[in-house]
Amino acid sequence: MRPMHPPIDSKLPRVGTTIFTVMSRLAAEHGAINLSQGFPDFEPPTRLTELADHHMRQRGGAGNQYAPMTGLPSLREAIAAKVAEYYGCHANAETDITVASGGTEALFCAIQATVRASDEVILLDPAYDSYEPSITLAGGRAVHVPLQRPGFGIDWQRLSDAITPRTRLLIINFPHNPSGATLSRDDLDTLAALLRDTRVFVLADEVYEHMLYDGRRHHSLLSQAELAERSFVVSSFGKTYHATGWKVGYCVAPPALTQEFRKVHQFVQFVVATPLQAAIADFMRSCPEHTHELPAFYQRKRDYFAGLLAQTRFRFEPAHSTYFQLVDYSTVSDLPDVEFARLLTTQHGVAAIPISVFSEDGAAKRERIVRFCFAKHEATLDAAAARLRLL
Ligand SMILES: Cc1ncc(COP(=O)(O)O)c(C=O)c1O
Repeated sequence: MRPMHPPIDSKLPRVGTTIFTVMSRLAAEHGAINLSQGFPDFEPPTRLTELADHHMRQRGGAGNQYAPMTGLPSLREAIAAKVAEYYGCHANAETDITVASGGTEALFCAIQATVRASDEVILLDPAYDSYEPSITLAGGRAVHVPLQRPGFGIDWQRLSDAITPRTRLLIINFPHNPSGATLSRDDLDTLAALLRDTRVFVLADEVYEHMLYDGRRHHSLLSQAELAERSFVVSSFGKTYHATGWKVGYCVAPPALTQEFRKVHQFVQFVVATPLQAAIADFMRSCPEHTHELPAFYQRKRDYFAGLLAQTRFRFEPAHSTYFQLVDYSTVSDLPDVEFARLLTTQHGVAAIPISVFSEDGAAKRERIVRFCFAKHEATLDAAAARLRLL
């Protein structure tokens, strides 16, 4: 039957359902242990959910009505205090900080605020999957620069070669999903020097900022004054507080950039759930130890999972950051990673993410690497490992 509507010409013809949805759905259909999509199978801190409950039950105030468009002042103040403590950055809560609906909305708004038709945006592959569609919707063109192997560091020569007079934005993601690569202080200085005489803005996706291991420190772009002047720095409370379903995040940027960011945010999201913002603000003030202890908390999980993986035929180097572990499965199978991840889920009962889908480069398709998420109870990791040992 012919449809009753006019033909719709897709604005995103290359986009299908995200690999996270595909793999989580496949895991559910086959009863597989889901180590694919990045979310914890444990609860947020009890105090945080109590605070959300408390704020939702407040009567006679405006606690369940629209928050200010830029975010609750108490939360923006708490973010300002945090970036000052961690990165020595003196962001102004009024002019530099905007609360967004998760990292994803913040990324989208920063891209729409900066990218115009025919602008080029540099992505470092493997790149998180929301970046390119957001660039396409803005009329821009993604230029893919692969991260170096092994280690997934920035290939400075290739990055430098990719910058043209049309380059408007560089998107970087460190701590890096999926590899766990981190940036050093020297990397920040090199990046600052590279961009010094250009018109390129930087969008820094730092949603894993509090998950670094073995004594490593996160070097936020906010800690490098020259880069901070041209950057939108995005983070997500979902990652930090084990509450990915809350979708609360933020963007820190200089006033002129924040002004443009907010013009988009006000018509994409307008405001973020008020009681959740109030709860996070209170929690940040009353329980600062949560973020101080997060690296040790996740390092224990990483080490536990690494101990289990050591009993399998997968090869890996323990992740330096994030809650993801890459494994090389070439001793187990010759299949390309998308097919291997499907087989692992449907036949062996463990769901993983194939990482080639985050790269444009053909070479990435020949790598035999998948990503597991270890933000799970030990019992979940034990059960997954029991299945992986059989391979
Ligand atoms: C690199 C990266 N950026 C952004 C996000 C999205 O963050 P949020 O869930 O807060 O929108 C994720 C979530 O998985 C991520 O891994």
